[in-house]
Amino acid sequence: MTTRAFGLLFVPVCMWILLAAHSPAYSQDFERGVVAADHPAASEAGAEMLRRGGNVVDAAIATSFALSVVRPASCGIGGGGFMVIWDAKERRAVVIDYRERAPLWASREMYDGRGDTADSESASIRGGLAPAVPGTVAGLCYAAESYGSLPLNILLEPALRLCETGVPVDEHDLEVQTSALKTLRKYPAYSQTYDSLLRLYLNNGKPWQIGDLFYSPQGPALRRIASHGASGFYDGETARELVRVVAEHGGKIGLDDLKVRIPAERVAVQGEFRGAQIFTMPPPSSGGIALLQSLSVLEEWEHKSARSLNSLGHNSPEYLHLLTESLKHAFADRAEFLGDSDFVDVPIQKLLDRKYAAETASHIDENQTLRPEEYGRFFGQDDAGTSHFSVMDHQGNAVACTETINLTFGSFVVLPESGVLLNNQMDDFAAQPGQPNAFGLLQSEANVVAPGKKPLSSMTPTILVRDGKAELACGGSGGPRIITATIQTVLNHEVFGMSPAESVSAPRIHHQWFPDELLSERKIETDVDEKLRSRGHVVEKSGGLAAVQAVAPNVGGTKLSGGSDPRKHGRPAGN
Ligand code: GLY
Repeated sequence: MTTRAFGLLFVPVCMWILLAAHSPAYSQDFERGVVAADHPAASEAGAEMLRRGGNVVDAAIATSFALSVVRPASCGIGGGGFMVIWDAKERRAVVIDYRERAPLWASREMYDGRGDTADSESASIRGGLAPAVPGTVAGLCYAAESYGSLPLNILLEPALRLCETGVPVDEHDLEVQTSALKTLRKYPAYSQTYDSLLRLYLNNGKPWQIGDLFYSPQGPALRRIASHGASGFYDGETARELVRVVAEHGGKIGLDDLKVRIPAERVAVQGEFRGAQIFTMPPPSSGGIALLQSLSVLEEWEHKSARSLNSLGHNSPEYLHLLTESLKHAFADRAEFLGDSDFVDVPIQKLLDRKYAAETASHIDENQTLRPEEYGRFFGQDDAGTSHFSVMDHQGNAVACTETINLTFGSFVVLPESGVLLNNQMDDFAAQPGQPNAFGLLQSEANVVAPGKKPLSSMTPTILVRDGKAELACGGSGGPRIITATIQTVLNHEVFGMSPAESVSAPRIHHQWFPDELLSERKIETDVDEKLRSRGHVVEKSGGLAAVQAVAPNVGGTKLSGGSDPRKHGRPAGN
């Protein structure tokens, strides 16, 4: 299961060409507000709301609905997500969790004997047993009611316009189409089983050309949301079609599942780095905790060694070794302790304790990496689709929002009348206990399937605040690579003084403790890899690692700067 699914997700990711220095198209400065998404039309949808007098949350909601239309392989109304908002006036962070949840009948045994076969992938990856109950529409409607200022029908206007005008196909669309068609060809029954995906999202199997127009089929579902709010999705025609089509594909999501749709407001996990407050995503994400753990360990290393990370040099072997060590410790803890905190006890305070960070830092050997079993043990004494966008305004308000349908084109299950493409988020659970999931992540009992439970996520929407105003909003797409790419973006901006565009474009590494390999993007010099190998790391060259969108005030604070990752061909917009 793992290898095939991993390839499925990462073929498109690895094909993202790591461009040399960032192209100016990926970076732009604005006076009053900025939106950086991974598609230009989605950034523009948010910027339109800012121009029409909307706030950052209005901009985020319009961007998200537009992304459902223009990045359907990554995220959308058939998926879920997390939104972190910084309200500069009230000086408070708001976290909205609209992650998908397991159906009410789900059980830890539901995938037993349903792994990969010669004819199909695991049932947690494709088909009617793969989707968890979608949360995006509930989350966006809740955000609009609670924190937005414009009516929902206005927020949906850009998305609906994009359905009607069509969207020019870009390089990312070519990549995801190639990847999905390869899978459909590999399993002969798939073309019939997933004929709606083939017809409505994959140009009937005919390769796209750059500039062809893609007409999203989501208009009917989006129009019902514009007219009836969340009920337009969770009741009525879309809901009935969802229940029927999932059953036709061998799964079961009932109307009762669709009634449990209130998103959770959660308390952000919070930390500090170089004097900035960090507000990021708590469980059911593992990303925020891992980000705070890693940054704390690096800061504690600075204190202990009386040296600064800057002095090591950006992407030097010494710096990358330290970074990797902090990541390996954080991912080992992720594997052991993290799950949906509504169902399992996640020791958040202990994981984020500065003393624990200091102790971890003291175990870092600057000359040698440790054996895998030597990570995560200290605490023990007392387991792509996806899209991220960031919004900021001149008053210091910000939104960091990451949304997903999990793997590229999710479960492949499409509602032919409504156009909705359903997620395969069930694979983010430890679906086959003891086996790594599609991202190669090992996970514990804390993340086994249970009715109504949310699968553990790596999505890491993050906002840094200084003196009450947002200083950086960022996050990314790419499974567990989200965590490591977001951490490196924060470090690039806060430690090495890079602009948002430079921060998201710079070459990256990734380590998730298991498997024990250090992925190094092609732009990282060979001699740097060699020096990392000499410290015991198993270094593998890699194509693009995750895609990050970041926004921040420029140096001097006169403008707002947006950076969309060249790895996914987005472009910021603003006013
Ligand atoms: N489905 C990817 C994540 O939530 O981490």
